[in-house]
Formats: sequence, structure tokens, C-alpha cells
Amino acid sequence: MRNQLKIIILLGLTALLQSQSPHGPALKVSCGDCHTPSGWEVKGGEDALLFDHGQTEFPLTGRHTAVDCRACHQTLVFPEASPECISCHTDMHRVTVGSDCARCHTPENWLVDDVTELHYDNGFPLLGVHAVLDCDECHVSASALEFNRIGNDCVNCHREDYEAAANPNHASAGFSTDCSECHSIDGFGWSSQFINHNFFPLEKGHDIADCAQCHAGGNFSSTPTDCYACHRQDYENAASPNHQESNFPLSCTDCHTTDVDWMPAEFTRHDDLFPIFSGRHRDEWNSCADCHISTGNYAVFSCIDCHEHNDPSRLADKHDEVRDYVFESSACYECHPRGEE
Ligand code: HEC
Ligand code: HEC
Ligand code: HEC
Ligand code: HEC
Ligand code: HEC
Ligand code: HEC
Ligand code: HEC
Ligand code: HEC
Ligand code: HEC
Ligand code: HEC
Ligand code: HEC
Ligand code: HEC
Ligand code: HEC
Repeated sequence: MRNQLKIIILLGLTALLQSQSPHGPALKVSCGDCHTPSGWEVKGGEDALLFDHGQTEFPLTGRHTAVDCRACHQTLVFPEASPECISCHTDMHRVTVGSDCARCHTPENWLVDDVTELHYDNGFPLLGVHAVLDCDECHVSASALEFNRIGNDCVNCHREDYEAAANPNHASAGFSTDCSECHSIDGFGWSSQFINHNFFPLEKGHDIADCAQCHAGGNFSSTPTDCYACHRQDYENAASPNHQESNFPLSCTDCHTTDVDWMPAEFTRHDDLFPIFSGRHRDEWNSCADCHISTGNYAVFSCIDCHEHNDPSRLADKHDEVRDYVFESSACYECHPRGEE
């Protein structure tokens, strides 16, 4: 009987408390986790409470840890607070960057450290001269924190430069308005120094500052890419080895890169005649003339200059049992056409 009374009193008390609660009926946390008998005020940050805000959908971090509950929970019905930054903070950017503030900001502070990454993510890395400009040179309303879309294409900001370009005259040459086809995006000017020439890399023997060597008269269009078109003389003059007599193909890249002095040349097809880039003779010779002792005539070759010099007696020993052995290069080649035993 007394127990029943206790329960009735307790139920009544709870109902009374619930009716006094400003937090709405859905609150699952008990009053004592936040309140003490000394009053309804909630003093101090969340650390002073048994209640842990970390368990809500919106853990408090950065500057938020020092903010009064009521600054965020004005109605005191806790779930009514929205976790979207923009629901509590004014959009300083006047809708120029969208409403997802957390893309660029955290509750630590409003500074944006990584403007570099921001531009990278936008597909417009700030490189070269662009990295040293003031924001408002591109974002005309940056001082008002407005970042209206400009567009990433060079021509969006450089149309006037294109139209004014006289040397060469871009418009009449029909140059593309995608400036980055020819101008480096990490350059510091429009001059030849910052030309993007990746479509025909100017490396090694082609690392030539004087553009006119390939673009006579400043004519950049219809420049041939075929090596022979520019290097016909070199081919015809080539003496060691004599390219014409050797019937070397005109496709120089079969054997050459742009390595200076045309060396080293990868004449790998030689291995079909006699392996020198593979097999036992790989890395055992220094110059073509080690075998081809008659300048310009590759039909002539010598094996015995090396082999005699290296080990004549041993050579003779080796052939003790070999009938028809002669100490002549053509004979060596006949019996050892691949330079092997
Ligand atoms: C998660 C923490 C939390 C819980 C749980 C909680 N309260 Fe509160 N309550 C607050 C906060 C915060 C305030 C605002 C305090 C302030 O303004 O200093 C508040 C204020 C109040 C007030 C004063 C309202 C006003 O207008 O000033 C009453 C009454 C109150 N709570 C009743 C209750 C009752 C009853 C319960 C249990 C059913 C309860 N609260 C549970 C956090 C809580
Ligand atoms: C910086 C703002 C901010 C501060 C300060 C803050 N809260 Fe919150 N709180 C929120 C947001 C936002 C939510 C998430 C609401 C949601 O989406 O459910 C939330 C959720 C809650 C919830 C869970 C509601 C539910 O049922 O899901 C409780 C309880 C709560 N807060 C209590 C408090 C108390 C008590 C304090 C002070 C100690 C406090 N909050 C301080 C923003 C804040
Ligand atoms: C439920 C409301 C609420 C939400 C949601 C909220 N904030 Fe806050 N925030 C506040 C309040 C209130 C303050 C303290 C008053 C002030 O400085 O504006 C504050 C303070 C800050 C501060 C410190 C400002 C200063 O001047 O020191 C930063 C930064 C901040 N919030 C960023 C954020 C970011 C980023 C988000 C979203 C991830 C966010 N806030 C979400 C209410 C909120
Ligand atoms: C695309 C990135 C981006 C987004 C999204 C963004 N901001 Fe910013 N915000 C910035 C930049 C950049 C600054 C300048 C910061 C600096 O100078 O370090 C800034 C500055 C601020 C400042 C400080 C202003 C001052 O006077 O110092 C506030 C406040 C701010 N933003 C609020 C917001 C709010 C609110 C949102 C969401 C509606 C938001 N931002 C969304 C990039 C962004
Ligand atoms: C050389 C020009 C240039 C400079 C200098 C520049 N930006 Fe940008 N910025 C851009 C371009 C291009 C975009 C890509 C988005 C667009 O089309 O507007 C962009 C985008 C942004 C965005 C929006 C990003 C988004 O995701 O919504 C912000 C914010 C921004 N810049 C801030 C800055 C700040 C702050 C500085 C100075 C520290 C700066 N920018 C310097 C050209 C520039
Ligand atoms: C959002 C605007 C914007 C975009 C997009 C942009 N630039 Fe710029 N750029 C500028 C501004 C502003 C300057 C500094 C003022 C000037 O010299 O024109 C500059 C300077 C330059 C300069 C140095 C000019 C000089 O006289 O020293 C070069 C080169 C350049 N940009 C190339 C490019 C290329 C290539 C692209 C495309 C990949 C590009 N820019 C895209 C805004 C832009
Ligand atoms: C087909 C390649 C090509 C394209 C595409 C191209 N340029 Fe050029 N541009 C050049 C060459 C080559 C030069 C001369 C460099 C030198 O020798 O100094 C040049 C020089 C310039 C000059 C200096 C001209 C002068 O009269 O001094 C400007 C300005 C210029 N370009 C702007 C642009 C802009 C802006 C774009 C894109 C809208 C663009 N270019 C696209 C090849 C190109
Ligand atoms: C070793 C020879 C060589 C040198 C040196 C050279 N170029 Fe080129 N350049 C070429 C070839 C070959 C092409 C044609 C590429 C193609 O059509 O794919 C070309 C194409 C170009 C084009 C593109 C024209 C178009 O219509 O698209 C420009 C612009 C250009 N060169 C500028 C320069 C500048 C500026 C220099 C000096 C810094 C230079 N070149 C130095 C060989 C050279
Ligand atoms: C548009 C003309 C042009 C084209 C096409 C061209 N070159 Fe060149 N190349 C030159 C010029 C000019 C030089 C510098 C003057 C010289 O040494 O003949 C040069 C130099 C070289 C050199 C350095 C020569 C030395 O004496 O050090 C090599 C190697 C070379 N080119 C190989 C090639 C190869 C391989 C190709 C084909 C992929 C090629 N070139 C296509 C114009 C061209
Ligand atoms: C079948 C392979 C092959 C082809 C194809 C070839 N070369 Fe060579 N070239 C060589 C070899 C091997 C050397 C000698 C390299 C060495 O001495 O290490 C050489 C050397 C040269 C030399 C230097 C000759 C000397 O007398 O000093 C020039 C110049 C040369 N090549 C130009 C060309 C040109 C231009 C073409 C294309 C039109 C071409 N070559 C095609 C294999 C070739
Ligand atoms: C280790 C010896 C050896 C070296 C080194 C060597 N060759 Fe040969 N080469 C031969 C032999 C053996 C033949 C085959 C001769 C034959 O079939 O008449 C041959 C054939 C040739 C032929 C074909 C001659 C013809 O008229 O049929 C050419 C061209 C040639 N070599 C060029 C070169 C060049 C260029 C080099 C240097 C990159 C070189 N060789 C290095 C041994 C050598
Ligand atoms: C530049 C010097 C040189 C010339 C020229 C030369 N050789 Fe050799 N040869 C060597 C060397 C060094 C070895 C030993 C390689 C080793 O020990 O693996 C060798 C090894 C050999 C072997 C033995 C391979 C084995 O399996 O043990 C034969 C066979 C041979 N050469 C044949 C020839 C013929 C045929 C010619 C002429 C077409 C020739 N060599 C020209 C340097 C030369
Ligand atoms: C009539 C065929 C014939 C002629 C010509 C000939 N060889 Fe041989 N050579 C052989 C045979 C077979 C062997 C293997 C002998 C053995 O292992 O008993 C051999 C072995 C060798 C070896 C030894 C490989 C090892 O095991 O160390 C070398 C090096 C060699 N020859 C190089 C030459 C040279 C250089 C010439 C030219 C002066 C030459 N040969 C001429 C048939 C010949």
C-alpha cells in the first residue's frame, strides 16, 4: 500500500516535471544530467554537465565548445537546431560559393588556409604568375568576399591579350583560344621562354633558344615534324657510318633520339646481321670501328683485331680439333655467325 503510494507520487512528480519542461516531450535525457536542484540555469560549457553533446548528431568542436547552449538552442527544443552552418551563420559570400560552408570552413575560425588546394579542386591551379597575384585581380569583388564564377578557360580573362597579340598575330594565324596549348600555365609571361612546346619536346639537341632555327621568319604554322625534312643534309653528310652507302632508312628515329651528336644510336637491327646490342658482344665494343675497320665500308669487318689481341694462343688451342680453321675474320664469321661458340 505504501509502495503503491510512492509510485503514484513519483509518477505525479515526473508528470509535473514534464509539464514544466520547455524541452518538448521527446527528450530522452533525464533532467538531472543537465540540471541541479539550485535552479534551471545551465552554467558553464558542456563539460560541467553529465550530458555529453558528442553523442548527438552535432559534436561540438573548435569555438563551438565555448558557446552557450542557448545561443544555438534558442527554442530549448533541442532537435530543432539544424546542423547546417548556414542555419546559424550569415552567408558573407552572398550565395557566390553555395550554401555548404563546411566545404571551406570549420568551427575553428573563418580563415581559409588552403586557397591553393581550393583552386586545384576547381581545376584552376594557381601556378606561375597566377600564384603571386592578389585575389581581386581575378575575383573583382573579393574584398566584399564575393567569389562569382569566372570560368577556368584562359580566354575568359585574356581575350584582350589574344586580340592584341601582334608578334605573332594570333588572330590572323588562327591560333587556338586555348592559350595553354602553347603557353605554359606555370609561366610568368607570354614570351618564348614560357612556351609550352610539349607537342614536340625541345629537349637535348632540340633545346634551342632561337625559335627561328625551326620557325624561319617567325612562321609557327606548318612546321614539319619529320626528322628528315630538317636533317636531310646531316643524313647525306653522315660519314661514320655512311648512311647513304649503308642504305639506312630515312626514318631517323629507328636508331636516333635527339641526343646531341646523334650518339648513342640504337641500331638494334644490326643484331639480325650480327648481335652487338645483345649476345656475347653486348657492351664489349666501344665504336663501330672496332669491327668495321675500313671507314665508310660496312661490308668490311674484322674479328681478329680483337680476338688475336685478346688471346691468340688460347684461340689456337680452342681450334685444335677444328678442321678448316683459318685465322681470318670472314672464316670466324662463317663458323660463328652469331658471335657464339
Ligand atoms: C541535455 C540537457 C538538459 C536536459 C536533459 C534538461 N534540460 Fe532543462 N534546460 C537545459 C538548458 C541548456 C536550459 C537553458 C538554461 C539557461 O538558459 O541557462 C534549460 C532550461 C530549463 C528550464 C528553464 C526554462 C527557461 O525558460 O528558462 C526548465 C524549467 C527546464 N530546463 C526543465 C527541465 C526539465 C523538467 C527537464 C527534465 C525533463 C530538463 N529541463 C532536462 C538543458 C537541459
Ligand atoms: C554551436 C551550437 C550548439 C551548441 C553550443 C550546443 N548545441 Fe546542442 N545541438 C546543436 C545541434 C546543431 C544539434 C543537432 C540537432 C540534430 O540534428 O538532431 C544539437 C543537438 C543537441 C541535443 C540532441 C537533440 C536530439 O534529440 O537529437 C541535445 C540534447 C543538445 N543538443 C543539448 C545541448 C546542450 C545541453 C548544450 C549546452 C551544453 C548544447 N546542446 C550546446 C547545436 C548546439
Ligand atoms: C546551431 C547553430 C550553429 C551551427 C549549426 C553552427 N554554428 Fe558556428 N557558431 C554558432 C554560434 C552561436 C557561435 C558563437 C557566436 C558567433 O561567434 O557567431 C558560433 C561560432 C562559430 C565560429 C567562431 C566565430 C568567431 O568569430 O570566433 C566559427 C568559425 C563557426 N561557428 C563555424 C561554424 C561552421 C563551419 C559550422 C558548420 C560546420 C557552424 N559554425 C555551425 C552557432 C552555430
Ligand atoms: C568555396 C569556399 C568557401 C565557402 C563554401 C564558404 N566560404 Fe566563407 N570564406 C571563404 C574565403 C576564401 C574567405 C576569406 C578567408 C580568408 O581571408 O582567410 C571566407 C571568409 C568567411 C568569413 C569571414 C569574413 C571576414 O570578414 O573575415 C565568414 C564569416 C564566412 N566566410 C562565412 C561563410 C559561411 C557562413 C559560409 C556558408 C554559407 C561560407 N563562408 C562558405 C571561402 C568560403
Ligand atoms: C589568376 C586568377 C585567380 C586568382 C589570383 C585567385 N583566384 Fe580564386 N579562383 C579563380 C578561378 C578561375 C576559380 C575557379 C572558379 C571560377 O570559375 O570562378 C577560382 C575559385 C575561387 C573560389 C571559389 C571556389 C569554389 O569552390 O566555389 C574562391 C573562394 C577563391 N577562388 C578564392 C580566392 C582567394 C581567397 C584568392 C587570393 C588568395 C584567389 N581566389 C585568387 C581564379 C583566381
Ligand atoms: C580568372 C582569370 C584568369 C584566368 C582563367 C587565367 N588568367 Fe592568366 N592572368 C590573370 C591575371 C589577372 C593576370 C595578371 C594581369 C595580366 O598580366 O594580365 C594574369 C597573368 C597571366 C600571364 C602573365 C602575363 C604577363 O604579361 O606577364 C600569363 C602568361 C597568363 N596569365 C597565362 C594564362 C594562361 C595560359 C591561362 C590558362 C591556362 C590563364 N592565364 C588563365 C587572370 C587569369
Ligand atoms: C598556337 C600556339 C599559340 C596559342 C594557342 C596562343 N599563343 Fe600566344 N603566342 C604564341 C607564340 C609562339 C608567341 C610568341 C612567343 C615569342 O616568341 O616571344 C605568342 C605570344 C603571345 C603574346 C605576346 C605577343 C606580342 O605581340 O608580344 C601574347 C599576349 C599572347 N601570346 C597571348 C595569347 C593568348 C591570350 C592566348 C589564348 C587566348 C594565346 N596567346 C594562344 C603562340 C600561341
Ligand atoms: C627543333 C625545332 C623547333 C624549335 C627549336 C622550336 N620549335 Fe616550335 N615547332 C616545331 C615543330 C616541329 C612544330 C610542329 C609540331 C606539330 O605540328 O605537331 C612546332 C610548332 C610550334 C608551334 C605551334 C604552331 C601551331 O600552329 O600549332 C608554336 C607556337 C611553336 N612551335 C613555337 C615555338 C617557339 C616559341 C619556339 C622557341 C622557344 C619554338 N617553337 C622552337 C619545332 C621547333
Ligand atoms: C623543324 C625542324 C626540325 C625537325 C623536324 C627535327 N629537327 Fe633536329 N634539329 C633541328 C635544328 C634546327 C637543330 C639544331 C641545329 C643542328 O644541330 O642541326 C637540330 C638538332 C638536332 C640534333 C642535335 C645535333 C647535334 O649536332 O648535336 C639531333 C640529334 C636531332 N636534331 C635529331 C632530330 C630527330 C631524331 C628528329 C626527328 C624526331 C628531329 N631532329 C627533327 C631541327 C629539326
Ligand atoms: C639504321 C640506323 C640508323 C638510321 C635509320 C639513321 N642513323 Fe644516323 N647513325 C646511326 C649510327 C649507328 C650512327 C653512329 C653512332 C655512333 O657513332 O655511336 C649514326 C650517326 C649519325 C650521324 C653522325 C655521323 C657522323 O659522321 O659523325 C648523323 C649526322 C646521323 N646519324 C644522322 C642521321 C639522320 C639525319 C637520319 C635520318 C634521316 C639517320 N641518321 C638515320 C644509325 C642510323
Ligand atoms: C663486334 C663487331 C661489330 C661491331 C661492333 C659492329 N658491327 Fe656492323 N657488322 C658486323 C658484322 C659481322 C656484320 C655482317 C657483315 C656482313 O654480313 O657482310 C656487320 C654488318 C654491318 C652493316 C651491313 C653492311 C653490309 O654492307 O651489309 C652495317 C651497315 C653495319 N654493320 C654497321 C655497323 C655500325 C653502324 C656499327 C656501330 C654502331 C657496327 N656495325 C658495329 C660486326 C660488327
Ligand atoms: C671489340 C673486340 C671484339 C671484336 C671486334 C670481336 N669480338 Fe668476339 N668477343 C669479344 C670478347 C671480349 C669476347 C668475350 C665475351 C665473354 O667472355 O663473354 C668475345 C667472344 C666471342 C666468342 C665466344 C663466345 C662464347 O660463347 O664463348 C666468339 C665465337 C666470338 N667472339 C666471335 C667473334 C666474331 C665472329 C667476330 C667478328 C665478326 C668477333 N668475335 C669480333 C670481343 C670482340
Ligand atoms: C671452321 C670453323 C671455325 C672457324 C673458321 C673458327 N672457329 Fe672458333 N670455334 C669453332 C668451334 C667448333 C669451336 C668450339 C671448340 C671446342 O669447344 O672444342 C670454336 C671455339 C671458339 C672460341 C672459344 C669459345 C670458348 O669456349 O671459349 C672462340 C673465342 C672462337 N672460336 C673464336 C673464333 C675466331 C675469332 C675465329 C676466327 C679467327 C674462329 N673462331 C674461327 C669453329 C670455328
